[in-house]
Amino acid sequence: MADFANLRADFPALAGGITYLDSAATTQKPAVMIEAMDRFYRERYAPIGRGLYTSAAAATKEYEAARQTVASFIGAVEPSEVVFTGNSTEAINLVALAWGRKNLKRGDALLLTEMEHHSNLVPWQLLAKEQGLELRYAKITATGQLDLADFKEKSAGAKLVAVTHASNVLGTINPIAELAELAHEAGAKILVDGAQAVPQLPVSVRELGADWYVFSGHKCYGPTGIGVLWTRRALYEEMDPVFGGGGTVKEVTFAETDFADPPPKFEAGSPASAEAVGLAAALEYLSGLGMERVREHAMFLAAPALEKLGSVEGVKVLGPPDPKDRVGLVAFTLEGVPSGDLAASLDHDGVAIRSGRHCTYPLHKTLGIESSARASFGVYTTADDIDRLHEVLLAAKQTLV
Ligand SMILES: Cc1ncc(COP(=O)(O)O)c(C=O)c1O
Repeated sequence: MADFANLRADFPALAGGITYLDSAATTQKPAVMIEAMDRFYRERYAPIGRGLYTSAAAATKEYEAARQTVASFIGAVEPSEVVFTGNSTEAINLVALAWGRKNLKRGDALLLTEMEHHSNLVPWQLLAKEQGLELRYAKITATGQLDLADFKEKSAGAKLVAVTHASNVLGTINPIAELAELAHEAGAKILVDGAQAVPQLPVSVRELGADWYVFSGHKCYGPTGIGVLWTRRALYEEMDPVFGGGGTVKEVTFAETDFADPPPKFEAGSPASAEAVGLAAALEYLSGLGMERVREHAMFLAAPALEKLGSVEGVKVLGPPDPKDRVGLVAFTLEGVPSGDLAASLDHDGVAIRSGRHCTYPLHKTLGIESSARASFGVYTTADDIDRLHEVLLAAKQTLV
């Protein structure tokens, strides 16, 4: 079992004593990440990819080193496979527009799943409307796992599959390597939304066999305003730029533009350089802990959370019962109590959990619930935090039910 008991001290925002159980929304930041950005602004700051003078070259080198760190962290073949975006949402929209517009035609089918976050659903709906595409949704089972038979059946004839690696509500970890194989057998490409997986699991894009993989810096202990799109070099060739402008070009005349190779081709305008440096520092922090241990820690917390919350009368836990099948989050309902009232009551006792529909309205409809409460864990979360959650939940139940 990973001993992460003392990590809390690495996170300045936790010094006030809050029990922060909303890491799936965004993680708190380690001091090493904040210091890396601070140092970059104080000592290295200059334009990226534009100036030839010494400080501009040094800043550009650091930005490209951050790309290298990201590439190594997710097991990419080379750094040029990594495009920096604003977040996961932007990366998915980029693929929808850059690849979808060019390669899909009226009547083509896209396969999503019932557990997708709006960020991996709305971009495809927009594209479907624009291009006249068919949208299919693979079902979930009674335990909140993907129905593989339904997935397989619906992948027949699909041109693209877009699926989350881990659900932000059910916690379910999807078998991406298997889904990639099924998608490819059906002749479809597959995009994987790794927003909840990269902070929690060892991820190797090469081993997973996906065609695109996206994630957000701010959910991985990094800063806001930076995300990642990964794909293979060959697939970038099938994508047209969505945003043009400075940084994306090789040659421009008044008549036309010859675009640069990726990644710059897809990074229009001045990039979020300090954020890239911060993200690299955050991923180095995670690598220092070891992603296998981070994964163990999440299971170590999920097991008592599932057991303790599940034992409270009136509580219904969402998602698979076995911690091995899920990332470190537990969403639940308390009979007769709106999730917002529950979260407000817990907040009163210094415990921060998420309430609402967590950007998954269709999933909540499928589950037949209005909303849910969600406790989610980070590397700084301890077994004491789970005990505290249990304790304040019991107290809240006394007053709210
Ligand atoms: C599964 C999943 N996908 C995508 C996103 C969107 O991430 P971002 O808001 O950083 O783009 C989230 C955020 O909660 C998520 O949980």
